[in-house]
Amino acid sequence: MNTLYSFSQFKYLLLSLLLLQLSTSSSSSASAYIFSDGEISSRNDLFREILRDEAVGRLNELGKVSDADGYLERTFMSPASLRAGNLIRGWMEDAGLRTWVDQLGNLHGRVEGMNASAEALLIGSHLDTVVDAGIFDGSLGIISALSALKVLNVNGTMGKLRRPIEVIAFSDEEGVRFHSTFLGSAALAGVLPVTALQISDKSGMTVQDVLKENSLEITEENLLQLKYDPGSVWGYVEVHIEQGPVLEWLGFPLGVVKGIAGQTRLKVTVRGSQGHAGTVPMSMRQDPLAAAAELIVLLESACKNPKDFLSYDGHCNDISLASLSSTLVCTVGEISTWPSASNVIPGQVTFTVDLRAIDDMGREAVIYELSNQMYKICERRSVSCIIDRKHDANAVVCDSELSSQLKSAAYSALRKMAGDIQDETPALMSGAGHDAMAMSHLTKVGMLFVRCRGGVSHSPAEHVLDEDVWAAGLAILAFLETQL
Ligand code: GLV
Ligand code: MN
Ligand code: MN
Repeated sequence: MNTLYSFSQFKYLLLSLLLLQLSTSSSSSASAYIFSDGEISSRNDLFREILRDEAVGRLNELGKVSDADGYLERTFMSPASLRAGNLIRGWMEDAGLRTWVDQLGNLHGRVEGMNASAEALLIGSHLDTVVDAGIFDGSLGIISALSALKVLNVNGTMGKLRRPIEVIAFSDEEGVRFHSTFLGSAALAGVLPVTALQISDKSGMTVQDVLKENSLEITEENLLQLKYDPGSVWGYVEVHIEQGPVLEWLGFPLGVVKGIAGQTRLKVTVRGSQGHAGTVPMSMRQDPLAAAAELIVLLESACKNPKDFLSYDGHCNDISLASLSSTLVCTVGEISTWPSASNVIPGQVTFTVDLRAIDDMGREAVIYELSNQMYKICERRSVSCIIDRKHDANAVVCDSELSSQLKSAAYSALRKMAGDIQDETPALMSGAGHDAMAMSHLTKVGMLFVRCRGGVSHSPAEHVLDEDVWAAGLAILAFLETQL
């Protein structure tokens, strides 16, 4: 490993390694799978033009489709999301797929293969982004699948697929606009509650309004009809950037995902007494922002030391506690105050909490205890406090059969690119959420991770090597070839 890590990266790395039970038999050096173009460009079974050059070009093009000037932002059904959908739709058609958009704004591209009534393989990821996003999160999964299918189309084998293959570009995974993730994939999996249609964004528009504005009429009845028949689906596969530093540290371009951490999102509203910053004595204030600060510090300390936080209440068993200690993470990513003026004691503060862990019981125990302690702090400070649970997704275990097929596909792709390789593809846990979580309610799921620079994601600094985009496309191609 040539790269030097900062102390904070190193700490994160240790955490990731705790999450990771490697199935590698031996470790490789970081440079082992950084491919040299000169050695491999002449091979024509590697489809460099489609799987690398065109795929990278498309990632860059899609990365420019933004609602904001100067940074990438595409939220659910925004104008840029619609433009991105049109672009992807063209690429789906270029790969030989029949396309349509469903009532939740998901874009589909499908090829029936030799047997249209066989169970379909679904492959997907999301076309929405966070605010000030990187260009690979979500897009890489869609584009690598389309590139691999394009290769089958070009080399004339697409018609020989044993089962239908459907690529889905999901409309909402990040949950930025409505604080409720997986609107698209949860609808297809049949787990989106009808109440989700009435959630409002900051401007007061509901999910239903936003869809209607785009001529997509969604009602309680047709929401139920969006659910795929589990009997018509064989499995779901997703390629995604790792969003962590483990693969880079191991010097491996691809990894197989063993499971995905569960997550809860809360919205906390604290109300106090709005007043004049110059006249209300400190002892007479009911300041919701000062209270929110205390709540946020409590949250940080609970999530740093869950053992100390939970040890006295008996709500959590030893296994959950051990798992929480290595995997619990909490984030306050958004906070707003009203009326937000420097000479006004705020009247109201709202902030979000994103809380994740591999152990679902442990996560519940933390939320229970956290809520109790938060209410106590608010009571002591004479402010009111409302904790809304906006989103919950339990941890997911990836299917072992799909995972081992993806592992072989990754191995075969890397072997083609690098020649003989000694190491097995690593298997790791995902702390990030993915559409695969929602799809796991419908069918078995498997995921492939792709190395990213410095483990950075949800940032414009997110980066994947062109060669790793290529490796991902080649791995999905190898996986699809098992369906011929
Ligand atoms: C999605 O990127 C998430 O994990 O928040
Ligand atoms: Mn993301
Ligand atoms: Mn993502």
